[in-house]
Amino acid sequence: MTKHTIKVCMGSSCYARGNEANLSFLEKYIKENNLDAEIDLYGSNCIAQCSDGPNIKVDGTTYHNIDENKIKEIIKNL
Ligand code: FES
Repeated sequence: MTKHTIKVCMGSSCYARGNEANLSFLEKYIKENNLDAEIDLYGSNCIAQCSDGPNIKVDGTTYHNIDENKIKEIIKNL
């Protein structure tokens, strides 16, 4: 099984626009659903798409305007 990688942009713009909360949500969600073996979670530097943020990268694909519902949707479809 391939492990999935989620990178949460921790640049100041994304951080202020919601990724601080999104990161906490992801940590909690992964733990509660026992997904530690399937998902690696990292922070990343600014990926230069601030105006579309908050952004996360999942297995190399960038997702914009992220919130908790979008995170759940993305993880469900992994
Ligand atoms: S801070 Fe996230 S893209 Fe710039």
